[in-house]
Amino acid sequence: MNAKSMTAQELIKKYLGFFKSKKHAVIPSASLIPANDASVLFNTAGMQPLVPYLMGTPHPLGKRLVNVQKCLRTVDFENIGDNTHHTFFQMLGNWSLGDYFKKEAISWSFEFLTAKKWLNIPLKNLAVTVYQGNAFVPRDEESYALWRSLGIPEERIAFVGKDNFWIAGEIGPCGPSSEMFYWTGERAAPKKFDPENKSWVEIWNDVFMAYDQRANGTVAPLKQQNVDTGMGLERTLAMLTGQKSAYETDLFQPIIKKIELLSKKKYAHEQRTMRIIADHIRAATFILGDEQAVLPSNMDRGYVLRRLIRRVVRYGKLLEITQPFTRALAEIVVQQYGVLYPELKKNKERIFAELQKEEEKFEQTLDRGLKEFEKMAAHGNLNGKDAFLLFQSYGFPLEMTEELAAERKIIVDAKGFLYEYEKHQQLSRVGAEQKFKGGLADTSEIVVRLHTVTHLLNEALRRVLSKDIHQRGSNITAERLRFDFNFPRKLTPEEVKQVEDEVNRVITFDFPVVRKEMAYQEAVKLGAQAEFGQKYPERVSVYIVGDYSQELCGGPHVQHTKEIGYFKIIKEEACAAGVRRIKAVVTP
Ligand code: ALA
Repeated sequence: MNAKSMTAQELIKKYLGFFKSKKHAVIPSASLIPANDASVLFNTAGMQPLVPYLMGTPHPLGKRLVNVQKCLRTVDFENIGDNTHHTFFQMLGNWSLGDYFKKEAISWSFEFLTAKKWLNIPLKNLAVTVYQGNAFVPRDEESYALWRSLGIPEERIAFVGKDNFWIAGEIGPCGPSSEMFYWTGERAAPKKFDPENKSWVEIWNDVFMAYDQRANGTVAPLKQQNVDTGMGLERTLAMLTGQKSAYETDLFQPIIKKIELLSKKKYAHEQRTMRIIADHIRAATFILGDEQAVLPSNMDRGYVLRRLIRRVVRYGKLLEITQPFTRALAEIVVQQYGVLYPELKKNKERIFAELQKEEEKFEQTLDRGLKEFEKMAAHGNLNGKDAFLLFQSYGFPLEMTEELAAERKIIVDAKGFLYEYEKHQQLSRVGAEQKFKGGLADTSEIVVRLHTVTHLLNEALRRVLSKDIHQRGSNITAERLRFDFNFPRKLTPEEVKQVEDEVNRVITFDFPVVRKEMAYQEAVKLGAQAEFGQKYPERVSVYIVGDYSQELCGGPHVQHTKEIGYFKIIKEEACAAGVRRIKAVVTP
């Protein structure tokens, strides 16, 4: 077959066919909504529905499984529109449940990628990473030797730390991984592989899941040695067909053609906007069409869905689409994906009706909301009350207000927004406590815990790395915190671990968190941390955590640090010149 014309269906067929030939049973994609896991809103990897089996429960179809799984990730919301990130995506995966291990997993990955009959990728465009080891888990010499024996040159194998220890979320089955990369650069691939070079795109991940990460921070061996692999369908198809991104493949082109038609504009001129609309409408259609119905709301999954649909509507406006259009786009998604995912066809009336309802509702307030926003923005940065008014009266999700603000180079006081939001919840929650349990209450609780731990992280960085570190920005969602700070280089895995340990140590002291009001000058004298470049009023509120941290802040915060739970860094990356970005989460 000519790879340049390969379709998504063909790639899926090949993958399943290959692993069937290796005695794997094909299992259907599970729902997007995790069945027994309250820690994530959506399945973010193919292995998530399989956790009980990875932990040792026998699977009815045996020890070798393969499938294509619906997944959805919201952590990288800000990356949507680039070449490699999607909100909804499909993951091809194969599993050994205590059956084969590294040798078979790696040689089959190699065979599928390079054999003429399968993907036929030339060796010169491939590179791999293997795990470099930590205090608990040794350096993965075995995988290194296996790749070498198959013909991967030594310069194309990199030992990597933290990124090559894979876990879904924070606790549960995990293990060292070996990732496969494909060269997408214009010129021939350099001889030596550098995983930081963005032209190397990760397409497949083999995880050797032999450990269990416990909530107390320890790692214990699992009962059985599993293999969990994941190949992103979108990325891999883009690469095989020689396209820049999946948007140029048959996964997205029909949707994009329809957007062109509706807007009478060209994809070539409106690339990012059309990509965002296509990505979000596909994700929204899958959420609405899922076996486990989710409807737009202000809570959890419903809020994610609402954000997606409203962002589609706003971007449609930017393209000057004047008539309702979400249904027309969803029809294309259902038609295109309904073959592989029959639930979309089955639930199509619900999909269309809910989209139309949400679009109409937002349509009614969007224009007035945008006018109100312009008025507010004319005075500079938006305070929490402004953002809350836009949310409450015009239905603007906080993230949308932040996005609008960023376009005008101003900022939104997100903490202030959450404070208003909390206050409002408390008022409207009276007598309805039960109704909110597990919903808003939980979400906002996590946000509060993330707020407090952000202060601890800020201080821990200074104590572990350098006293010259200061906050350069921060953003908190129900899923994670994001913290930017000045530092000249990438943190080593050991430093990341030290910072994590320091924060967790402080949490276990169960320090009280106290709010004090004082004059700005007094706070400065006290040594309270303030954000670089922020303007503060004359009287400020300072949050004091034991004798550990003092920081200017509007709150809200937990009362004692033990309420925060367990802290974990999930990403450390460059953000701007001399500025690093950390993303982290907390678990009970
Ligand atoms: N579970 C692994 C991943 O998602 C394979 O990368």
